Amino acid sequence: MANGQKIPATMTAIAISQPGGPKVLKPETRDMPVPGPGEVLIRVHAAGVNRPDVQQRNGAYPPPPGASDLPGLEVGGEIAALGDEISRWRIGDRVCALTPGGGYAEYVKVHAGSVLPIPAGFTYSEAAAVPENYFTVWHNVFERGGLKKGETLLVHGGSSGIGTTAIQLASAFGAYVITTAGSKEKCDACLKLGADRAINYREEDFVAAVKDATGGKGADVILDMVGGDYVARNYDAAAVEGRIVQIAVQAGAVASTNFATLMVKRLTHTGSTLRPRTVEFKAAIAAALEAQVWPLLGTRKVAPVMDMIFPLTEAWRAHERMEEGEHIGKIVLDVG
Ligand SMILES: NC(=O)c1ccc[n+]([C@@H]2O[C@H](COP(=O)([O-])OP(=O)(O)OC[C@H]3O[C@@H](n4cnc5c(N)ncnc54)[C@H](OP(=O)(O)O)[C@@H]3O)[C@@H](O)[C@H]2O)c1
Repeated sequence: MANGQKIPATMTAIAISQPGGPKVLKPETRDMPVPGPGEVLIRVHAAGVNRPDVQQRNGAYPPPPGASDLPGLEVGGEIAALGDEISRWRIGDRVCALTPGGGYAEYVKVHAGSVLPIPAGFTYSEAAAVPENYFTVWHNVFERGGLKKGETLLVHGGSSGIGTTAIQLASAFGAYVITTAGSKEKCDACLKLGADRAINYREEDFVAAVKDATGGKGADVILDMVGGDYVARNYDAAAVEGRIVQIAVQAGAVASTNFATLMVKRLTHTGSTLRPRTVEFKAAIAAALEAQVWPLLGTRKVAPVMDMIFPLTEAWRAHERMEEGEHIGKIVLDVG
């Protein structure tokens, strides 16, 4: 490890003391992580909060083998130490990173391929709000879903961290964007971000609204984090040759649907989870993002929507905020 600054032997981190509600998130003193070959150590200044952290805290989303048991899938900070075989990064570089866990801490080690420079003009908090959502949306909407300019994207949960990212990116790349959200305030926020049509799913049937907005054709790509009865309804809302990408199943992992619709419309229904993927896979997404999306972040054509920032030691409050479901965009922890 080639060090440039004095790194303490221990650090403060937020651990999941036992599965349960937000208050199980407790500060702990942990040993300093040591970066191995191909890894860097980041002094974390801000950490993004994501719904999967809440699921992990509840005991429903265990970390993949070899990953830190600490929550936290993304950070903004400075390179503090380098493992062997690192050529791109230098001590003190301002970076953001996708982490396989361990982001709720003063330091985190991460594979260099998951690290990106902080977009021009971004604060650490803004930078920490980027990786998890941008990696996920890029892969699922553009790579798996194959969304093209001029096509229609339907994104459920438009006011979520993922949704606000998908709306902005799809709109920036020339798609027609329809979204669903659970209140007028959330729908208004989605429209401001570039959505062409926002459907309050508590008041309107999204299948009928999508058909109406597309002249009966339906959506070419659907990004779904709901599952349950949305599976059958997504098949109905999809266009011929439509692609439905499942990234979560918040309303249920088991569903009943009419597969004749899938055959007749020649639909593709796929899905993925990001966290357990290989470092090579994540590095490939990072490279695509840096080439195609970082210029948009640098000019703020797209940018994370910042909801609230909490101190690291009050991570439990951040989780409460997320579970209340009133947030629009990203909740972030200030690590100092
Ligand atoms: N597969 C992957 O690689 C991957 C990666 C990251 C995140 N995710 C998933 O993506 C989702 C969003 O993550 P996030 O961090 O952006 O979370 P978030 O900001 O907390 O958003 C959750 C969203 O889900 C919507 N929702 C929940 N239950 C719903 C239901 N029954 N019907 C309609 N909408 C519902 C909520 O919308 P309303 O408030 O409008 O109801 C809310 O906007 C999470 O489920 C997360 O697990 C997947």
